[in-house]
Amino acid sequence: MTGIVLHGGRGTRLRPLTHTGPKQLIPVGGKAISQYVLEDLRDAGINEVAIVLGNIGPERVQEYYGDGSRIGMKITYVNQESPKGIADAVRLCQDFIGNDKFIVFLGDNLLKGGVAAYAKDFVASGADAMLLLTRVKDPEHFGVAEFDTSGRLKAVVEKPKYAPSPYIVTGIYFFTPTLFDAIAKVTPSGRGELEITDSIQMLISMSAKVVYRFVEGWWKDTGTIEDILDANRLILDERLLQSSIAGIVEEGASVEGRVNIEEGAVVKGKAVIRGPCHIGAQTIIGPNAFVGPYTSIGRFCHVENVEIENSILFDNCEVKGIKQRISESIIGQFSKLTGEDKRQSVAHFVIGESSIVTL
Ligand code: DAU
Repeated sequence: MTGIVLHGGRGTRLRPLTHTGPKQLIPVGGKAISQYVLEDLRDAGINEVAIVLGNIGPERVQEYYGDGSRIGMKITYVNQESPKGIADAVRLCQDFIGNDKFIVFLGDNLLKGGVAAYAKDFVASGADAMLLLTRVKDPEHFGVAEFDTSGRLKAVVEKPKYAPSPYIVTGIYFFTPTLFDAIAKVTPSGRGELEITDSIQMLISMSAKVVYRFVEGWWKDTGTIEDILDANRLILDERLLQSSIAGIVEEGASVEGRVNIEEGAVVKGKAVIRGPCHIGAQTIIGPNAFVGPYTSIGRFCHVENVEIENSILFDNCEVKGIKQRISESIIGQFSKLTGEDKRQSVAHFVIGESSIVTL
């Protein structure tokens, strides 16, 4: 089996973070979101993957993953010039896939426990397509599954006004190359995209065998700022099971709970870190700082005289001397947040790359 991981799209709901880079590279728990996707594929025995690059920061994706050897994979890059749909992105990988079975994994989706068991199940099923479904409260924002009375999948509809069921199609799909015949028959939707849901619907009309499984555990689509902060919490809970401290914790500093402190990071006196937290390499915390639960701080940051919790700092940020507790915030790389403003007790920021904010 091979894999396709999408890194295109518009990222409009994640601006300003996506003005300068693709959403799939937003860090949660110290790694780009799509690195969990790639590692899940690798752990399912899939070592060859095509990454589809979009038009937001494609060079950053190539810089981050290179040829893939850093994470034990072989990566081929395919360019999608404009976001013409998920099925359009998949179609561009037809030569790469050849006659193999394959997994399409949207680069902004996270799944508890990975895909190894589902991949085995798909191969054993002999199906042309297998979808992973999950129940949500707002199905009309997704591709929605419709079943017949015997529970067979009858249809999938993209973002319908009235959802035929509460079960939606997650962004993890298993296919045989028959999918390419179906994509060739679909036309762009009302929003001008070649839809993967229409292509699956076409497979059903072609009498191909399309099966589904329900997701066990959580699944997360990271389309909004709230989703990204949720994903950071889920990843820190699920994947940071015990502390690992490679950096230096100076005398007078306190580190409690599950905390990952990478090499070269320094926690200075009178700083408190309360896990689960991730502190990237070469970052300096303190003096006088509180880094609270569910915070991921990137590499080469400096956090001083500040309280921060439930937040994400990209690499190379400086956050100093803020009197309010910073919560539910995301701060883009190379940004500086400094000053003193006593108007509120809790402050919330979403700051894009290379910004300077002085309160
Ligand atoms: O997350 C699951 C949902 O993903 C499914 O339930 C929907 O059926 C499916 O259409 C998709 O809906 P979204 O509205 O979330 O799609 P979005 O435009 O956010 O794109 C999903 C991913 O695919 C994202 O990582 C960007 C990438 N993408 C998207 C388009 C439109 C591309 O690489 N190229 C594209 O042209």
